[in-house]
Amino acid sequence: MATTEKPRAVDEERLMEFVFRAVDEVGATLNAALVVMGDKLGLYRALADAGPLTPAELAGRTSTAERYIREWLNAQAAGGYVTYDPESGRYTLPPELAVALTDESSPAYLPGFFQIALGSVIDSPRITEAVESGDGFGWHAHVHDVHEGCERFFRPGYNANLIGAWLPALDGVVEKLEQEALVADLGCGHGASTILMAQAFPRSTFVGSDYHEGSIQTARIRAEEVGVADRVRFETAAAAGHPGDGYDLVTMFDCLHDMGDPVGAARKVRDLLAPDGTWMIVEPAAGDRVEDNLNPVGRAYYGFSTLLCTPASLSQEVGLALGAQAGEARIREVAEAAGFTRFRRVAETPFNLVFEARP
Ligand SMILES: C[S@@+](CC[C@H](N)C(=O)[O-])C[C@H]1O[C@@H](n2cnc3c(N)ncnc32)[C@H](O)[C@@H]1O
Repeated sequence: MATTEKPRAVDEERLMEFVFRAVDEVGATLNAALVVMGDKLGLYRALADAGPLTPAELAGRTSTAERYIREWLNAQAAGGYVTYDPESGRYTLPPELAVALTDESSPAYLPGFFQIALGSVIDSPRITEAVESGDGFGWHAHVHDVHEGCERFFRPGYNANLIGAWLPALDGVVEKLEQEALVADLGCGHGASTILMAQAFPRSTFVGSDYHEGSIQTARIRAEEVGVADRVRFETAAAAGHPGDGYDLVTMFDCLHDMGDPVGAARKVRDLLAPDGTWMIVEPAAGDRVEDNLNPVGRAYYGFSTLLCTPASLSQEVGLALGAQAGEARIREVAEAAGFTRFRRVAETPFNLVFEARP
């Protein structure tokens, strides 16, 4: 006798709650593009500098079209990014948001976060195809907003933590850097971390590498711009091909999980290191279990992992695809599989875990 499945009861209230939550999420999705627009056109900067402005005044200050600016400002006001005074018709960027949206020196600086998110969304049709085919999608193949957004997203965290907290947490590394150390920064992207270390430790020498030629060209320009090009060399090379040996410190910032063969890369790090050298691994903050990461930070990182990190790893040999939420236990496994005998977590922030591995 055929059984009929009893339809599951739908709670109408929960359904409508979700619909209204989705309205907010769609507004937030669209706002990512509006934030990048405001950043690129200098709209936040003008509001921060001038105080309350009408749409015409903001348009005049930024050489933009008033009709668009009025709409953009209303979207910003509806999202709580600016306040609106109906009496004067003026819009104000509150001081806290002015810091987050315009102050590049603040650890809370956010435009890069939106820029890399928007770049990821722009590339999502191609990732959707990859999800169907199982093919990878390399970091190099993304739009420029992913590469530049990545640099601008991570740099504030490095400025806030790398020199003052993360390097001092490593055993004996700062002392070596202050003398005359040789440092390799693998998967360095636009070289934000490499250049920051070079500025802090003028007696040491730095070699950054990344398999993406375009990123390395930008890194070279950045080093020239801040006057450290004499002590910082950038090479286009996959981690497995990083040149030289005898390094006192090898660093990897938010890139081990993007690599197709992290264990192979870790073995290469062992070859690159001097016998008492140190490997510093910076990875996204994550717990070991899925249920540890079901929170706003985990949500953003699983999103980036689906659109950027997992396809990047799958595009390379081995394709281990650790994912951006690999967690400490899996990173430790990688280090131990490559023969590192000592491994410990030395620092963490809401966004990053920092590990030290020694031969
Ligand atoms: C999320 S980005 C981080 C870039 C940089 N470390 C930073 O913190 O701004 C990941 C980087 O890993 C690089 N990458 C991916 N696979 C690589 C590999 N096998 N060898 C070297 N670099 C690799 C990418 O090109 C990209 O620049």
